[in-house]
Amino acid sequence: MTREILSSAPAKVILCGEHAVVYGEPALVTAINLKAYCRLTETKTGKIEIVSKNLGKSMSYTLDSREEPSKNELYPILRSLLHILDKFDKRVSARIEISSEIPVSAGLGSSAAVPVACSAALYYLINGKLDREAIMEAAREAEKIIHGRPSGIDTMIATFGGVYAYRKFEEPIKIDVPKDFPKILVIDTGVKRSTGALVERVRKLKERYPKVIDPVIHAIGRLTIEAIYAIFDRDYERLGELLTLNHRLLSAIGVSHEQLDLIVKTAVENGALGAKLTGAGGGGCAIAICYEEHVEHVINALKAQGFKCFSVNVSEDGVTIEE
Ligand code: MEV
Repeated sequence: MTREILSSAPAKVILCGEHAVVYGEPALVTAINLKAYCRLTETKTGKIEIVSKNLGKSMSYTLDSREEPSKNELYPILRSLLHILDKFDKRVSARIEISSEIPVSAGLGSSAAVPVACSAALYYLINGKLDREAIMEAAREAEKIIHGRPSGIDTMIATFGGVYAYRKFEEPIKIDVPKDFPKILVIDTGVKRSTGALVERVRKLKERYPKVIDPVIHAIGRLTIEAIYAIFDRDYERLGELLTLNHRLLSAIGVSHEQLDLIVKTAVENGALGAKLTGAGGGGCAIAICYEEHVEHVINALKAQGFKCFSVNVSEDGVTIEE
């Protein structure tokens, strides 16, 4: 009988600490209720076939061929899958169909959620269970190709779900978000950008002006710790203020965009507690946090500026086998 597995992994928003997290500072991240899905069908073709509905792209790689696979947009996913096959020393052929609710190149972790979901499906096919650490490790093979020097935060949250304080090389700390936590809005600039290029931009700036940029990176890390205390204290005005301050510090290291600045200004002027870019910046998405009673007003103000804007929920779901 042909075996079929459906897996999923969530998108994320970084509440604070992006970029600084690459240099060992803490960041605060939450999984949200948008998912990437992978439908894996076991085949007898001797190939790994990958089809992305959203990208309208496909690739096929013959296992045991000595040829280098073509390095298209789906190649990073293939690398994650080969990592799993190598781990088990197996040659399982399969067709992988990807579909996703997560906007691409927008800072919401699509390029981590997809390899996490795909790695999980293959891992489950071979081993009949999910080993989250092993899945995260396989997905990082893809992330390294896409982003160059990732902190690992995106694959961690796509694998485990929930809300975490994350610091490179340390055990992530789960944060229990109070029930009265404000609403999180995601606002899309529609400007596509590359995380790898933005991480590289910060690295170069940091290399040129270490005495200027290092303290800003450290301040972002410090701010993340303050933000976590604000959540513990349920002081959401303070949290909002810190998020907006985080945006300004990110702007100082060169990763904002005029559309992101406009979103932050519009959101805050119309009643949001705070707003900032999320993810690598340079375009992509921003987030705003606001009390329920202000949501409609903030959304209308942002829509009047032409932005796509939607409310998301914190999600406890990490990588999941759906059926
Ligand atoms: C990307 O979602 C977050 C960055 O900090 C890069 C990383 O942590 O790998 C910009």
